[in-house]
Amino acid sequence: MMGGRHIYVLFGFLLSLVWRTDAGAISLDNSNFNSTIGNTHLVMLNFYADWCRFSQMLSPVWDELADKVNAQFPEPGRVAIGKVDCERQQDIASRFHITKYPTLKLLRNGQVVKKEYRGQRTADALAEFVAEQLKDPVVLIKSIEDVNVAKKDNKRTVFGFFESQMQEIQISNFKKLSLALKDDCKFFMGTGEPVEKLHPPGMPVVTFVGSASDEDDTFLGDLSSYPELLAWATDRCIPLVREITFANAEELTEEGLPFLILFHAPDDLESPKAFRSVVERELTDEKTNVNFLIADGIQFAHPLHHLGKDKKDLPLIAIDSFRHMYLFKDYSSMDKPGALKQFLADLYSGKLHQEFHYGPMDPPEQQTQPVERRLEVVQQKSPTTPPESTFKKLGPSPNRYTLLEKQEL
Ligand SMILES: *[C@@H]1O[C@H](CO)[C@@H](O)[C@H](O)[C@H]1NC(C)=O
Repeated sequence: MMGGRHIYVLFGFLLSLVWRTDAGAISLDNSNFNSTIGNTHLVMLNFYADWCRFSQMLSPVWDELADKVNAQFPEPGRVAIGKVDCERQQDIASRFHITKYPTLKLLRNGQVVKKEYRGQRTADALAEFVAEQLKDPVVLIKSIEDVNVAKKDNKRTVFGFFESQMQEIQISNFKKLSLALKDDCKFFMGTGEPVEKLHPPGMPVVTFVGSASDEDDTFLGDLSSYPELLAWATDRCIPLVREITFANAEELTEEGLPFLILFHAPDDLESPKAFRSVVERELTDEKTNVNFLIADGIQFAHPLHHLGKDKKDLPLIAIDSFRHMYLFKDYSSMDKPGALKQFLADLYSGKLHQEFHYGPMDPPEQQTQPVERRLEVVQQKSPTTPPESTFKKLGPSPNRYTLLEKQEL
């Protein structure tokens, strides 16, 4: 028998469905922020301030976006559209280094995705972007030919070859991995007959094919351990040293870190290898401060000119700080232990900049004169200015919409 109470509960349940699909973006504060980003695969956030006109304009668009996304992807834990009132939630705003409103951020598995949204700020365009982010990045291998085609592509690719769908934990880790690294690698997966020659019987294989053959590698760890698989694949999909091209220069610039660049002649394959090995040996702890890059010195002749160099001076190493460029004085001393590390330290301390203005500073042991006297000497040397950054100009145009720079629609 269905009593009145049941009807009431049923009605409440229906109402909650309607409510859920038409409720706008979730307001996030200290009580629900961590659980939301921790329990939701994809979260798109609008950091806003009520007094900001552009925040006010985005607000109804954001609620409409949330309604569209909730209707299209109702599965709990898949996607959430949230908003953070930065005036009230200063802890959260400062945790994400928000300085401008509105700022949009995308989080996948609780981690900020570097790639920014570049489309229009309409509910439709944003919803399409979200749907795109939720697409399964794994391409299924139907025949061995698919593998050969994918390998020829010269893109960083992770292949998973499995005996059967029964290898559930391993397959689910592989799929999770593909979502975490979809912006940096391609993912191909095969099970059963099409890939049976590509792995030992009963043993799944996950293997990486890079853009250069010396990057290729097979995962030798435990496929049922996601952290192990993730660490391995992250090192390969997001290598410490990357090549800069005109196609990716803007994106790299947007990461906002100074560049340490090796310029080399296109037929010189040795110096990139040597540079990679020095960076891997000595500078891994700098990777959150600096982007390590390799550039074709013919394609990127312009920055070389800026440094007063040209192709006959290759290979050479320089820093572009996005304000200025600095030349590493002696390429041949690159692998002298500590030399590149010191070059970076001199950037941080301002020494590189100062030396351009006033010439080489006295080594500390010679600084015996009183401070006033030393300052006088410094001022007598005629100031020069280090060459301006050239890579700054490859960044997003100020006229184009970007989430990082703009505070308006
Ligand atoms: C949320 O997580 C952050 C980072 O892990 C932590 O610093 C903060 O204290 C957490 N906040 C709450 C309310 O649990």
